Amino acid sequence: MLISSFAQLAGELAPPAPAPVRSAEHSPFGRDLVAALANRPHAISPKYFYDAAGSHLFDRICELPEYYPTRTELAILQRCAPEIAQLAGPQAEIVEFGAGSLRKVRLLLQAFERPARYLPIDISGEHLATAATLLRAEFPQLDVQPVVADYTQGLGLPHAAGPGRRIGFFPGSTLGNFTPEEALAFLEHAAEALHGGALLLGADLVKDPQLLHAAYNDAQGVTAAFNLNLLARANRELGARFALDQFAHYAFYNAPLQRIEMHLVSRQRQSVALAGQRFELDEGESLHTENSYKFTVDGLRALARRAGFRPGPVWTDPQRLFSVHWLHAPERKSP
Ligand code: AVI
Repeated sequence: MLISSFAQLAGELAPPAPAPVRSAEHSPFGRDLVAALANRPHAISPKYFYDAAGSHLFDRICELPEYYPTRTELAILQRCAPEIAQLAGPQAEIVEFGAGSLRKVRLLLQAFERPARYLPIDISGEHLATAATLLRAEFPQLDVQPVVADYTQGLGLPHAAGPGRRIGFFPGSTLGNFTPEEALAFLEHAAEALHGGALLLGADLVKDPQLLHAAYNDAQGVTAAFNLNLLARANRELGARFALDQFAHYAFYNAPLQRIEMHLVSRQRQSVALAGQRFELDEGESLHTENSYKFTVDGLRALARRAGFRPGPVWTDPQRLFSVHWLHAPERKSP
């Protein structure tokens, strides 16, 4: 379906039930949005895309013809699952960072030899509960233990349960949405938490800018709706009154920094009210909403090495669009 008009877009962004309005000072989203509007250049973390409406839009992005990462990574995992299972060994435990779509981890669980435990870590308890129920029904022998936590803020994991290795799983190139400093810090924490095991990491590759541009500027306008949902969410949750038709989705590939940047650009000079303050936006001024870094295979392996991993096999698709890395975690330091 083509999202062609703003009325249609507003319909797309309408939540099933109204979220309670909180004053901006009392929610992390409100505080970060106020800070983003008060500082120049205006920038906010992409984590705020993912309320219920945003998560639904992201699921639709994953099905778009232009958005190659999801289906390419799935095909790689499908093809290489036996080899991955061999590396993981029997009775492994899988720790997934972010309980994403269950399609990817299911491929691993089907291929692994007697997987012992699955620990999905996610900030949303609701998302986790659904994932856990579905997987318990499908894999009755599997111990599924959801962990409600923000895995970007450190990784306090329960002790390993059985004799098998602990395998971290971080698919989807979500690492690319971190700043380079955050990516290194995350990998350092993961290396520590997975000692003696490994991390299976999906990373989108540097490629023809036209392919990248198309992936973030899809013809149906779903990515635009996903980006604008940030403002729609502020209207729903914080009682803000952003006029969505006064902002344009703008995504481009910044080749020197090897990243897609997403912005919301003000179509005219305007003033917006939030938390009892007024903020002026000039015509053409932008709110930077997301970076999506792309990697070379060697660059990702060098980053992993800096974090303490020993890079192992890498799998890619025939067009080299996407990569999946096996990274050996260091042994635990003896006391
Ligand atoms: C979740 N993340 C890896 C996606 C990406 O490609 O950076 C989010 C996204 N943004 C726009 N389209 C998809």
